[in-house]
This record gives sequence, C-alpha cells and structure tokens, in this order.
Amino acid sequence: MSSPNTTNFEVLTKDLAQKIDSIITSYENNSTKLVGILLEVQDNIPKQYLPLEVAAYISQKMNIPLSRIYDVISFYAALSDVPRADYVVQLCDSVVCKVTGNTSLKDSLQDILGIGVNEISDDGKYCIESTACFGACDIAPAIRINGKVFGHLTSKEKIKQVLDNYR
Ligand code: FES
Repeated sequence: MSSPNTTNFEVLTKDLAQKIDSIITSYENNSTKLVGILLEVQDNIPKQYLPLEVAAYISQKMNIPLSRIYDVISFYAALSDVPRADYVVQLCDSVVCKVTGNTSLKDSLQDILGIGVNEISDDGKYCIESTACFGACDIAPAIRINGKVFGHLTSKEKIKQVLDNYR
C-alpha cells in the first residue's frame, strides 16, 4: 500500500521541492507575497499549474492554511490548479487593450494557433486565456506568455514573431 508521500513523489520531485524552498526563501517566507511565490512556483511546473501536492507543500512550508492558498489560486486568473499547456498565452481583455486593438490581436492569435479562447491545442502546447489587465497598458495591446509580457502587438506579423520563440 502506498503512502500519500510516495503517491505525490512523481510530481513533487526532490528538485522541485528544493526549487520551491529557494523561491519561498527569496520572498523571505513572507505570506503577504504569496501571489508572487505561487506565480514563480507555477512557472517551474510543466503545463503551468499548481498540483495539490505542490499547494500542500507550500502550505506546510509557509504555515498557511491550504484553503487560503486555494482562495488565492481561484482568485487570480494567472494561477491554475489544473494542467494547462506548455505555453499559456494570456490575452488582456481590459479597457486600454480593447481600445488599442485587442480584437484583431485575438483573431490573429486564434488563427495562428488554431484554437479559441479557453481552448488547449491538441498537442497540449498552447492555450489562450482571456485575462484582466496585467499592468502593461503603456504597451497595449499586449499578451503574456508563461508570465512574460509582449506589447505593441498591432499586426499579425508582430504576433507571429513573438510566437516563433515558443515553437
Ligand atoms: S489594459 Fe491591457 S495590460 Fe492593462
């Protein structure tokens, strides 16, 4: 019979646990910086999500109730507790991006990747998500791929150039 620890070992590898430890330390184990910690941990996990065992590990390490961690995950669109894709393409749907052309940006993204918003490509490589402003209004219209922001995406050619780095 396997214990919970052996069951969890496949996802929460020793390397990943060490990486999480160093991320928590870099934020001085400060619970007010939980969002930043979760985002950084998520960036280190294939398919850009936070599995239960990882959330439980952070909960235990930071002495934060697991329920609070899930409150944060469900509140922030940039965080997920289910597997997404290798490359999570987030399209800002807030007002400045809207008036600067995010509709054609969305059309181009869907056309190039062959998927719609909230869909994952068949090979699991890409998903497109619509999200609230992520603070790149000065370079709108903008997208974020695995946390990295790209702006001034006013033509399909520029979008293609960005996506070429994520093939
Ligand atoms: S409105 Fe799009 S990044 Fe702020």
